[in-house]
Formats: sequence, C-alpha cells, structure tokens
Amino acid sequence: MCGIIGYVGGADKAVEVILDGLTKLEYRGYDSAGIAIIENGKLFVEKKSGRLENLKSVIRTDKESHLGIGHTRWATHGVPTDVNAHPHVSFNNKVAVVHNGIIENYATIKEQLRAEGVCFTSDTDTEVIAHLYAKLFDGDPVTTMVALKKKMRGTYALGIVNSDDPERIVCARKEGPLIIGLGEDKNFIASDVPAILKYTRDVIFLDDDEIAVIEKDKVSVYDAEGRLIEKESKKIEWDMDQASKAGYPHFMLKEIEEEPAVVEKTLGIYVNPKGDVDFGETFGKIDFEKIEQIDIVACGTAYYAGLQGEYFLKKNAGLKTAVEIASEFRYSDPFVDQKHLVIFISQSGETLDSIMALKTAREKGAKTLAIANVLGSTITREADMALYTLAGPEISVASTKAYTAQVTMLYLLSLYVGLRRKAITKAQYDQRLDKIYVLSEYIGNVFFQKEKIKALAAEIREKEHAFYIGRGIDEKIAREGALKMKEISYVHAESFPGGELKHGTIALIEQGTPVVVIATQKDMVEKMLSNAKEVKARGAFVIVLTKKACKELEEVADRMIYIDDIDDMLAPLLAVTPMQLLAYYTACAKGLDVDKPRNLAKSVTVE
Ligand code: G6P
Repeated sequence: MCGIIGYVGGADKAVEVILDGLTKLEYRGYDSAGIAIIENGKLFVEKKSGRLENLKSVIRTDKESHLGIGHTRWATHGVPTDVNAHPHVSFNNKVAVVHNGIIENYATIKEQLRAEGVCFTSDTDTEVIAHLYAKLFDGDPVTTMVALKKKMRGTYALGIVNSDDPERIVCARKEGPLIIGLGEDKNFIASDVPAILKYTRDVIFLDDDEIAVIEKDKVSVYDAEGRLIEKESKKIEWDMDQASKAGYPHFMLKEIEEEPAVVEKTLGIYVNPKGDVDFGETFGKIDFEKIEQIDIVACGTAYYAGLQGEYFLKKNAGLKTAVEIASEFRYSDPFVDQKHLVIFISQSGETLDSIMALKTAREKGAKTLAIANVLGSTITREADMALYTLAGPEISVASTKAYTAQVTMLYLLSLYVGLRRKAITKAQYDQRLDKIYVLSEYIGNVFFQKEKIKALAAEIREKEHAFYIGRGIDEKIAREGALKMKEISYVHAESFPGGELKHGTIALIEQGTPVVVIATQKDMVEKMLSNAKEVKARGAFVIVLTKKACKELEEVADRMIYIDDIDDMLAPLLAVTPMQLLAYYTACAKGLDVDKPRNLAKSVTVE
C-alpha cells in the first residue's frame, strides 16, 4: 500500500535517490506515483498514474535538487489518475505532501477551506493537508505540524516539503508506518527499510503521534505537542541481496524456494542445542497454566496461518483457541480479558486492522503477543511480547515463505505452551518436535514436481472458476490455496469443507471445472474420495493433493500431486507449497504480473 520516500542531502541527487526508493517501494502495491523536489528554491512536482515507468519516462534524473519526497499511491479516495496521485500541492504552490492513510474528517476540512476560497484539484482526502499546512505555516515546521495534527482525524504517515522552508522535510505519523534513515550528510524518510537500505542501515522507527524534522545533517523528533524527545536508532541486519531476485524470474518463486531454508532457520534459532523450544525471555511474565484461552488475530494469509495454529494449540497445548479476522475483531465485541493471550500474526507488522485489533485487546486487559516478520514493525512495538519469524524480506505481494515461517513458529509455540501446561508429556513433546526435522527436506522434494505442476497450470489457465476442498486441517490449506490462486492468477477460486460443496456450490461445477481435492489426513481420505467422486460425476477436472501413502484417490483423479509421508499434523506445512506453485505457474501461464498483482498491496496500512 502507499509508499513514502523522502531525501535531504548535500549532493543534488534527490531525483535519483527518490526514484530509486520508489522502485524499492513498488512491491507494496500501487497504482500511481509522484515526486516533489525543491529546485532553485521552487517546488517542482511530477506525477503519473500507472506503473512507475510512466513517471520515470517524463522526469529528468539530472534535475538538481538536494531535497524531495516521493510516493507510490494505492487509491482509496479518488480513482488512480495523474491528478489524484501524490504529492498534493497547496493553493500557493509552495507545500507538497505525501500521505499514507485516510483523513477521516477531510470533507469537513475541505468545506471550510472552500469557504475560504481554496480551490481543489483532486478527489483525494490528502489534498486538504497541503492547503491546511500552507495556511498554518508560521515559519516553524514543528508548531505548524502540531497545529495541523490537531485539525486532522484519521490515520497518516506524512512527508511534507515547503519551498518557504527549503532545507527540511517535516513528517508525522499516526497509525501509518514511517521510518527515518540516518546517513552521512544525508537523511531519509521512508515507509519501510528496503527503500533506503542502499544508503543506510541506521534507522529510527517513528511512533504514533510523533513528529520529525529531517535536515541534511540533523534529525529531530518531537512528541505530539512539539516537545523534543530522544529516540534511539536501530541497526538493520539484513541485506539487500535478500531483497533481490537472484536470477529468479519472480520474487514469488524465489520466496517459495526459500521455504526449506526458512524452516531450518526457524528451528535453528528457536530450538536450542538441548533440543528444546526456546523463546528466550519472551514469555518471562506469563504463567501459561493461568491462560484460559488463546485468540489469534490476523488478516489474509497470516489469518490462514492462524487457523493452522488453532489446530496445533488445541492438539498440543489443550487450549481453547479462537481465530478472528483482524478487521472484524473490534466489531465482534471480543470477549478477551487478562486470562486470554491474544496472538497477532503479521508478515509486515504494519497491517492497520491488526494494529487496531491489538489496541482493542490490550485495552481489555489481554496479554498480547506479536508474531511478525519485519524487525521493529509497529505490531512488535505495540504488543507486550514479540516473536520474529525469520523468513527474511518478502517482496512478492502474495505471501508464501512468511506463511511457512508463521505456521512453523505456531507449531513450536504450541509444543512450548503444551509442555508448560502439562497438556503433553515430555516424551510426547520430544516426539512431536522431532517430527518437524524432516520438513525442510520434504518441502525441497516438492520442487521436483515443478514441471508437472507447471503443466497442470497450463491446463487450467483458461478456467474462470476453481474450487478447493478439504476436511479438517486440510480445509485450512484449501483456503490458502484458493487465496493464492485468486490473488495472482485472477481465477475465481473458492474453498469449502469437503462435505459442504454439495450444499449449493456444486451447482457451479461444469465440464472441466477444476476442483483441487486436498487429502493429507489419513482418516479423511475415504471421505474425501467420496467428495471427489461427487464432483467428478458432474464433470469436474479433479486435481488431488495427497501423501505418497494415500494412493486410493488415484482412481478418481485427473491429476495427482504427491507430498512426502509426513506426520498428519505437519502436513499443512508441506501441502501449502504445491498450492503456491500451482497459483504461481497459472499466473505465469496467463502472462500476469506475478509479484505485483492488480489492486493488491503488500502492506495494508488503511482500515
Ligand atoms: C495483504 C497482503 C497479503 C497478506 C495480508 C496480511 O493483503 O497482500 O499477502 O497476507 O495483507 O498482511 P500481514 O503483513 O499482516 O501479514
């Protein structure tokens, strides 16, 4: 979702640095892009709808400027056009604003400004910020920003440049991600680390309601009232290499193929040399015997990882577990209190719905745990406790290796909690932990079927609909499989419990409609065979995903995909990989932009 970059430096490289930053922000998802620089004391703005290439083709990179801001926009208010793209400029042509978030009271502000004679050019909520800032500007960016913040309601990460104040960028955040990169004779603002990692590893994470003023050789951070505060910087340990395609045609394929390494890394870090799950000091304050329920809250793929976690926690920790979609959590009148541990799963750690749900859970007294992939992300700072998945940067919009890391982590967590609650014996704990050690090798074996899956993708690429069915834990993989297919290949894909399809949706099965039957659980194979026959009898093209040991389904399958004979409980961790590959190759066969699917954003920072 919207990406922000800003640069103040000694050399006149603003355009180059900002365009480079915008390229790194592309993965977040966007539909237009723009840039504002101060050139010879005047504001220069260029913005274009569509891909960043459109902007690059009209802007000269040799333009001399030491300061500027850039933006990739994911439209909320107003369709993606040149005019609605950011930066937005004030009536006096002096102030330019980039914004990530939504100004909820923009209509009221707009009316007031209109009454004062301000003309609006765009349909966005953001434009009011530019006009307001210009009206409020009193020579001091901090007092101006304090006053501006008091007039706005909603969420924002903001970067503002002003030709009347040409040596600094002022920025502010309220529930929108914003970091400050500290360089030598240059400083940056950005929505996330990849945008600036080429230039610095030293980063300040702005917190809610903070304001910052960025100059070439100075960064000052203030609270909401404009009082100077001390902020510590953090060092980013990972490399840009991890965020490059390394010869792969797409990030998505690279990231899927990193799954075995991600599992190994997770086990390497969170299982100590004595063979015990070890989360260090993370749970110092928690007495798991006193926890009555675990709630898992997340969005998208992280939510589906949570559904797997629910199964693990019930089985291994004997704990009542509920999984909720973050955007619904607040409105479901959640019954959580101090006896609940609420786990928030998020790759980015910046999904606004998850952050807002976390705040609700905290207000109700629940203990909160973040499981996130991005170091220093908001969720990890807002929660009582945080565990990091160790998937490395995930660039493709469709989440793959992060899911694997999340589910692996939840498996370890369920064993850890189970032992502490005495829900499982030490022997059971050891045995269940041992079983996960084959996982990375078995995921690696899935890749031997890549050509077969690719051929299958070519067969289904023209299909309008696809259905995924499974029972029990397989139904959860079915959901993730269908989501992957929808998001990158635009095939309408739905998932159902094996027994449910016939209560309505079977009416949609026609000759050749692909139905993916997931049957990795031994005791479900017979039932799934019946369900597969039901759809087959109505003309479905049946694709079966099962273990090598379960050959029974061959009799009904048009195509088979096998996974190794892993323990039933761990099968979801293995079965998801072929589902990801099927979606990937279908999107490739359709010639689609796999890593940047239309309308989607990597990090969803609006509610
Ligand atoms: C977006 C992404 C998904 C992701 C979801 C949750 O929709 O496109 O891939 O699963 O957000 O994101 P999070 O960062 O919270 O895991």
